[in-house]
Amino acid sequence: MRVLSGIQPTAKQHIGNFFGAMRQHIHLQAENEAFYFIADYHALTSNPLPDELKSYTLDAVLDYLALGLDPEKTVFWRQSDVPEVTELTWLLSCVTPMGLLQRCTSYKDKVSQGISPNHGLFAYPVLQAADILIFDSELVPVGADQKQHIEVARDIAQRFNTQYGETLVLPKDYILESVAVVPGVDGRKMSKSYGNTIGIFESEKAVKKKVMSIVTDSTPVEEAKDPEKCNVFALLKLVASEDELGEWEAKYRNGGMGYGAAKKRLLELLLEYFAPYREKREELAKMEGYVEEVLKSGAERARAVACVTLDRVRKAMGIGDGV
Ligand code: ADP
Ligand code: TRP
Repeated sequence: MRVLSGIQPTAKQHIGNFFGAMRQHIHLQAENEAFYFIADYHALTSNPLPDELKSYTLDAVLDYLALGLDPEKTVFWRQSDVPEVTELTWLLSCVTPMGLLQRCTSYKDKVSQGISPNHGLFAYPVLQAADILIFDSELVPVGADQKQHIEVARDIAQRFNTQYGETLVLPKDYILESVAVVPGVDGRKMSKSYGNTIGIFESEKAVKKKVMSIVTDSTPVEEAKDPEKCNVFALLKLVASEDELGEWEAKYRNGGMGYGAAKKRLLELLLEYFAPYREKREELAKMEGYVEEVLKSGAERARAVACVTLDRVRKAMGIGDGV
């Protein structure tokens, strides 16, 4: 199956991104033809500083490689290294009704948060559709928040095929069964835009500070506590073994346990869980030119596929001299 997904390099990737998406992307590469990319064109819609965009992009590449993405098997590239996708975006824009984009909740949410939208933000789902359709993707593994964008891509492909004849493959979404929503240190959904994240590869000192700052209620040590209402327990679920989790659950319910003890154990487990990946990332970061090499070869492989689809679309629409 041709599987495709992208992530935005708008900040450092956090453990919510890992447990919610990156880990599943990496598993899926074993039995599928996987295409993964770092969506730097999409990140531009929030106007990041150029140096930050560049460094977050390279960080995300290193993160994926350290976490087990195999660049020999999986096609892995930086979105802007395949500029054909922007041409397809324009071609698709011309079959995309305004109403379809006006209904997109992620756009409406951002506007209601007071963000003054640029045209790129409005057209974001068309670029995402181009990402998906240019690689003839069959399955797009994403978090539930992206479901509507995959439906938009399907809708655009369908309209295109109706107007110009069978040209584009209709993709299906594949909503990742994430370990529910990973809470941030303040108890809201962990998100780059809330400043409540625990980075996958932050320094041990920074992880410690964040874990110790996780918001808990003020139930006294001796009283019984409800684990299902506790942010620390929600994070323990991600990294503790089943047996150990059972023990913590009992400690919560029996009383006599302070949240500090749970936080301390969570810290140990988090550091333990990510230690091998941290080591691998440090090794990869030292290999001069490695990331650039991976990106160059990924872009070549991705472009070879993208050019064929773009050509098909241009011909279908009567654009260019290959008609
Ligand atoms: P952020 O909200 O931090 O900006 P993105 O929107 O870039 O994250 O999400 C990238 C991927 O990670 C998406 O597939 C999303 O569903 C997943 N993801 C992000 N935050 C969480 C979370 N707190 N819990 C579970 N999955 C998450
Ligand atoms: N919009 C996606 C997100 O914020 C990232 C993305 C861009 C994407 N292009 C894509 C995901 C294509 C899947 C397929 O998470």
